[in-house]
Amino acid sequence: MATAALTLPSAGSASIVAAADGRLAEPRPLPVAPPGTPEQLAQDEAYWREVAAQYAVTDEITNLEAGFFGMMPAPVLAAYHRHIDRVNRESSYFARRAYPALAQASRARAAAALGVDVGELAFSRNATEALQSLIGQYNRVRSGDVVMYADLDYPAMQMAMNALAARQGATVATLEIPEPASHDAILAAYARALEAHPRTRLLLLTHANNKTGLLHPVKAIVELAKARGIDCVVDAAHSFGQVPLALPDLGAPFIGVNLHKWVGAPVGVGALYIRRDALDRIDRAHGDDGPLDRIDSRIHTGTTDFAAVMSVPDALDFQDRIGVARKAARLRFLRDRWAEQARGIPGVDILTPNDPALVGAITSFRLHGNGDRAFNAQIARTLSDEFGIFTVARSGLAKGDCVRVTPALYSTPADADRLVTALRTLAARS
Ligand SMILES: Cc1ncc(COP(=O)(O)O)c(C=O)c1O
Repeated sequence: MATAALTLPSAGSASIVAAADGRLAEPRPLPVAPPGTPEQLAQDEAYWREVAAQYAVTDEITNLEAGFFGMMPAPVLAAYHRHIDRVNRESSYFARRAYPALAQASRARAAAALGVDVGELAFSRNATEALQSLIGQYNRVRSGDVVMYADLDYPAMQMAMNALAARQGATVATLEIPEPASHDAILAAYARALEAHPRTRLLLLTHANNKTGLLHPVKAIVELAKARGIDCVVDAAHSFGQVPLALPDLGAPFIGVNLHKWVGAPVGVGALYIRRDALDRIDRAHGDDGPLDRIDSRIHTGTTDFAAVMSVPDALDFQDRIGVARKAARLRFLRDRWAEQARGIPGVDILTPNDPALVGAITSFRLHGNGDRAFNAQIARTLSDEFGIFTVARSGLAKGDCVRVTPALYSTPADADRLVTALRTLAARS
């Protein structure tokens, strides 16, 4: 397209050129990562500037709220545009003929990346849809049973557990994730809760929660539950692409994931996993008459964003070029950069522990132990309005609200340092 070009601000040294219609040209290809461990590479600013240059980031704000959904890097965005053009041009002729094979290829690619068989994974539009299907269609809860979840689990899944219990005449038991969290304290909390509720049938677990970013020791908790004959459904909405993840390692039969958070696929792609031997514990989706022995009959989405599904291999190509372990190490480096400095500021409580097994990109803080909702919302607003740093306040923790900070691959150490300066000012003020 030979229209006038404008240069979009980018977080890196290389700029990305956009045509006047706003479409991004592909930036120069991402170089192969230099040798070294992921932890060594995490501090190689020259390499990460090249990565950041793949993202056309607005300069209106320093966005440290990458937990909502992930930006597509330029090659994925360009591919998505191409796919949209094709879908629109060829319409139903494409959707009925060429699309099913492309969707199946996307699914096979996602399944391989997650270490599962393609017959154990089905796309949804997001993790919520995947997990609500799994919970709502779980068929082993009986009257008098218990379903259980924790304060840090995601509200929509907590509600789905409540609805399942109400429908089946079961009760809901809840537990609090200890603060400060540690591997042993979390396990002990689950052990106590399961001991207190011997009729627990279904346990909701979150891998990386949306409030503090804590990486929960899911595998160990699943083992505790399994010993009592309890099934676990795992919310891994934040895990795919944030940290190395092979779904079988979590040990759970039912898992929901997102591809539009940390994998950088277009918004509108999630997936549900049902381990082959557990398919009969999930009923067919309401309104589906597909074969009982196929996972496809467990979710019925209807017409969906074809182009988003087609972009999955493009997003995974980009991810593979960097490598998930390197992504995770960089994100952790950026997280440590602000969180470790902030931990030393009087009045700043960092809610996510330093244990590398328990933390990824996301970490939350509270000022002066104040968990008041309005106070935390105001802190996030002040960070944005006064300091130009976008974060988000989060609710639902037993000990009160907090502010969540989530860097992305386009974030820089300077962004983290600016946040620390702002927190120093805010802590001294409040
Ligand atoms: C832990 C967790 N689960 C589920 C979701 C829902 O994801 P989506 O809105 O893409 O369905 C989120 C979203 O932030 C989340 O953080």
